[in-house]
Amino acid sequence: MRSLLVVVLAAGEGTRMASRLPKVLHKVAGRSMVGHVVEAAGRAGAARLAVVVGPGREDVAAAARAAAPAGVGVEVFVQAERLGTAHAVLAARAALSGPVDDVVVMYGDTPLVRPETIAALRAPLAAGAAVSVLGFRPAYPTGYGRLLTRDGDLVAIREEKDASPEERQVGLCNAGLMAFDGAVALALLERIGNANAKGEYYLTDAVEVARGLGRAAAVVEAEVAEVAGVNTRAQLAEAESLLQQRLRAAAMAGGATLIAPETVFFSPDTRLGRDVVVEPNVVFGPGVSVEDDVTIRAFSHIEGAHVGRGAIVGPFARLRPGAALGEGVHIGNFVEIKASDLAAGVKVNHLSYVGDSSVGANTNIGAGSITCNYDGFRKHRTVIGADVFIGTNTLLVAPVRVGDGAYTATGGVITDDVPADALAVARARQVNKEGFASRLRARLSAGLSPKK
Ligand code: UD1
Ligand code: MG
Repeated sequence: MRSLLVVVLAAGEGTRMASRLPKVLHKVAGRSMVGHVVEAAGRAGAARLAVVVGPGREDVAAAARAAAPAGVGVEVFVQAERLGTAHAVLAARAALSGPVDDVVVMYGDTPLVRPETIAALRAPLAAGAAVSVLGFRPAYPTGYGRLLTRDGDLVAIREEKDASPEERQVGLCNAGLMAFDGAVALALLERIGNANAKGEYYLTDAVEVARGLGRAAAVVEAEVAEVAGVNTRAQLAEAESLLQQRLRAAAMAGGATLIAPETVFFSPDTRLGRDVVVEPNVVFGPGVSVEDDVTIRAFSHIEGAHVGRGAIVGPFARLRPGAALGEGVHIGNFVEIKASDLAAGVKVNHLSYVGDSSVGANTNIGAGSITCNYDGFRKHRTVIGADVFIGTNTLLVAPVRVGDGAYTATGGVITDDVPADALAVARARQVNKEGFASRLRARLSAGLSPKK
C-alpha cells in the first residue's frame, strides 16, 4: 500500500458566487463542497490531508477538519497571496517535505470526485510516472488547460491564455486533479516559474518540468459530470442535480423503490434498507437511516432520524433530529417527531407534535395531540408507557409521565403524571343551557350585547 497525502486547494474567493460565504462552504446535498472533497480524499485512503485556505479563513479550515474521517490528520496552511495553483500547493510545503509515496492535489470547488477516481489517478505513479493528470472532454473547452499529448504520452498542459490557436483546438482538458510522485513533488514545484500570460505559478507546468528531468507524465480520463467545478450558483445547482442523480441511482441499486426518483432528495449519508418504497417529493436531510420494508409516503421531510423495519411515514410527515421509530411504527399526515423514541407499533397518525419524549410499544396517540415540551427557557421530557391511549387533542405539559395502559380523555390538558391503567380526564365538564340559543339570537338581532 502506497501512502497518500492529499492537498486540497481552498484559497479561492469565489467572487462569482456573489456571496458572503466562501465558495467552498456552499453546500451540495447538504454538505459543504470542501467537506465533499475531504471526505472523498479520506475514503481514497489519505493518511494525511493538507488544506490550503485564504487568510483568516478559519471557517473553511473548521469545515475541512469536521469532514475528515477519524484518524486522518488535517493540517491547515494559509496562502497569504494568490499567486497561482503551484504557489498554493507550496503553501503546504511543510506537509510535502515529509516522506510520502503519492501526493494528490484536489480543488475545494470540485465536489463530485469519487474515491475510485482518485485511485485511478494514482495508478500511473505506481507504474513509474512522476505526474498523473485527470483529463476530461467538456462540451465547451474554453477556459480550461489543454492536455497536449504525443504518441499517447502527456507532454504539456497549456493554459487557455497561453495556448496557440492549434492548441486551443484540443478537446482533452485538465480537470484540475493532479497526482505526483511524493519523492519528487517538492522538487518539481520549486522549479515552476511564472513567465506566462497571467504571471502566475501554474501547477500544470509540473508536467513539462518532470519531462525535462526525464520523468514520464500520464493522463487518466474522467467523466465530465464527475469533475464539474463550481464557480457560480447555476453551477452549484448543476452539481446538486448531478450528485442527486448519483444518490438516487445508488438507492435504487441497493433495493429501494423510488416512484419518482427525480423528486426525491438525498444526503450523501442516507441509508435505505431493502424494499423501502419512497413516494414522490421526499427530502432526506443528513443522518437518516431507514430499515427494510419501510414506506415513506409523499411530501415527507426527514433528517437525523432512524426509521425501524416496516414503518410507514407520511404523507406530509416531518421527522427531526433524534426521532427514532421502532418496528412497524405509523406516522401520519402533518405529524412532527423530534428527539423522541417511539417503540414498536406506536401510531401517531394525524396532526400531532411529539418532542423530547419516549413512547412505549403499541401506544396510540390521538389526532391533534401535542407534547408541550418548552417553557420558553428549557425543554422538558414526556414519558408515555406502553399500550397507552392518548385521546384526541390531548396536551401533555412536560415534564409529565403517563403509565402503561393508561387512557387520557379527549381534549385533556395533562399537567400531572397519570398512573398506569388510569383514565385521566382533564377538561371542564359540559354544561347544556336549555333554550339559551334562541334568547341569544334575540339579543344579538336587537343590537344588544351577547352577555347578560
Ligand atoms: C486550473 C488549471 C487548468 C484547469 C482548471 C480546471 C492551473 C494553472 N490551471 O485553472 O489547467 O483546466 O483549473 O478547473 O492550475 N487556487 C488557490 N490559490 C491560488 C490559485 C488558485 O487556492 O493562488 C485554487 C482556487 O481556489 C481553485 C483552484 O485553485 O480552487 C484552481 O484555481 P483557478 O484560478 O480556478 O484555476 P483555473 O484558471 O480555473
Ligand atoms: Mg477555475
